[in-house]
Amino acid sequence: MLKKLSEMVSNAFVQCGYDASVGTVIVSDRPDLCQFQCNGAFIAAKKAKKAPMSIAVDAADILRQNPAIQSAEAVAPGFINIKVTDAFILELMNQLAGDAFYGIPQRKEAILIDYGGANVAKPLHIGHLRAAIIGESLKRIARAMGCKVIGDVHLGDWGLQIGLVMAELETRFPDWACFKDSFRLSDGFSQTVSIDELCEIYPCASEKSKRDEVFRGRAKDMTADLQSGREGYLALWKEIMRVSIEDLQSNYSKLNVFFDVWYGESDAEQYVPELMRSLSDQGLLRESDGALVVDVGEEGDKAAVPPIIIKKSDHSNMYSTTDLATLIGRQREFDPDAIWYVVDKRQSLHFTQVFRCARKAGLIRAALEHLGFGTMNGSDGKPYKTRDGGVMRLSDFVTAIIDAAGEKIAESGFVTAADQDDTAQKVAVAAIKFGDLNNHRLKDYIFDIDRFLAFEGKTGSYLIYTVTRINSILKRVPEAADRNTPHFSRVYSDIERDIFLHLLLTGQAFQTAFNERAPNFICDHAYRLASLFSTFYHDYHVSGETDMVKRDARIGMCVMVRSLLVKLLDVLGIQTVESM
Ligand code: ARG
Repeated sequence: MLKKLSEMVSNAFVQCGYDASVGTVIVSDRPDLCQFQCNGAFIAAKKAKKAPMSIAVDAADILRQNPAIQSAEAVAPGFINIKVTDAFILELMNQLAGDAFYGIPQRKEAILIDYGGANVAKPLHIGHLRAAIIGESLKRIARAMGCKVIGDVHLGDWGLQIGLVMAELETRFPDWACFKDSFRLSDGFSQTVSIDELCEIYPCASEKSKRDEVFRGRAKDMTADLQSGREGYLALWKEIMRVSIEDLQSNYSKLNVFFDVWYGESDAEQYVPELMRSLSDQGLLRESDGALVVDVGEEGDKAAVPPIIIKKSDHSNMYSTTDLATLIGRQREFDPDAIWYVVDKRQSLHFTQVFRCARKAGLIRAALEHLGFGTMNGSDGKPYKTRDGGVMRLSDFVTAIIDAAGEKIAESGFVTAADQDDTAQKVAVAAIKFGDLNNHRLKDYIFDIDRFLAFEGKTGSYLIYTVTRINSILKRVPEAADRNTPHFSRVYSDIERDIFLHLLLTGQAFQTAFNERAPNFICDHAYRLASLFSTFYHDYHVSGETDMVKRDARIGMCVMVRSLLVKLLDVLGIQTVESM
């Protein structure tokens, strides 16, 4: 819609002798006066050294000749206020109704999204929530825009945390065969570790390593031995991986988060020798205090960017080593056009270093972007914690919200006993995700369960509730079933016109969300659509309408609003329910 209008206005400017580029049309910030506006006369005026108002008058005069334009008015000091005709709106609505892409502009690039970032052997904690929610949504937005997208969880499965867990298991079960030097993978691993055990062991081991130097040293050695392929440790590591991944998958799927590949830091190990060779052949490596580093500082850096450490003096791999080696694998397997890292913004220095080093060494063709995010805080404004101040396990957090949603739903009385659990789960996930995505990703926000779960206001619950309202309207009109591609031939009321205009801006909302890599623009668009619909629903009847032509038009509109809302929620990673 905005694209079409901008073309028309650009044409008008060109006909008056100005640049086409000034014809950009935006949604009006004074909806009481007009639907759209163009502020291009101000830009044209600078170049032409003329008063903006006279340019606006000329362009508006020409624009008015366009049959799609109902009114175009120059307003001092140089705005052009625009309204379009209902015929134009209806034409676009009929196109939209037949468009499998909902008016979402289509693109072609291949994008790999690195998100989730869970660490094996440590339970998922609240800090992993945002990476999962934002990454999943960006993945879905890019897919809706036609991109070929791969979601990679990039497990932290090769670091010291594994060594810590192994060292603690060794203390507890010194007799396990896997700890013997002579152990071979072909011996088979006969012990099992449960996820609850792991969840208890990691914090205990991590705590111990802080006060026990010997234990810490042991964990480090075991990590290094694992990385160099000691078979007993590999066997134990595989068991830890099996148990952890099973648990992670169940947690992520509860959140409606799904990865295409489950690669981890360990998968990068095979590319480390190649990375080292490439860096050294290109003369990029330098020794510093026994460590190998690459200089990545650049002239003009506001804050110094220190050299990136590739190998520590003890030869162990670093977080950066793995990220760089991973790029070699990604180039080989996927050759993406872009890689988006959805990771806490506090890791921004790390990514600056990694990206610069990757560029210098020519490791990858893709554009690399760190899409950082802020922190989810508790009501005290500090990072969200358990009641006793500990780090909250993600599964405990999600369970608590599902319980709260369940209570609310039971109160409402609209959900059958059989559907209660499923509905509670979807409502809870909607509340958590919308509460998060509604903020620009870079901002910190406060998690407020009561507000997020409310059925009124800008919440996920309100949005899925709106869908259930439309469901119940359409259930009362049997003919709705064959209105999947509705036809629109008249605009009956102002609110219907507003809804149409808003539906026609969906493509724009996607474009902005994609350009900014920010799902909050989809939240805004969805919420506005739901509130417009609520106004309509308050003032007009659908099944009760006796004028059959009007009734038919309204059914068509309900069908469209529902499909678009469902689509918008889907790209936020939110599922809808039949009733609630
Ligand atoms: N596992 C890391 C963490 O917990 C996040 C990984 C992010 N992705 C990456 N390619 N570095 O902080």
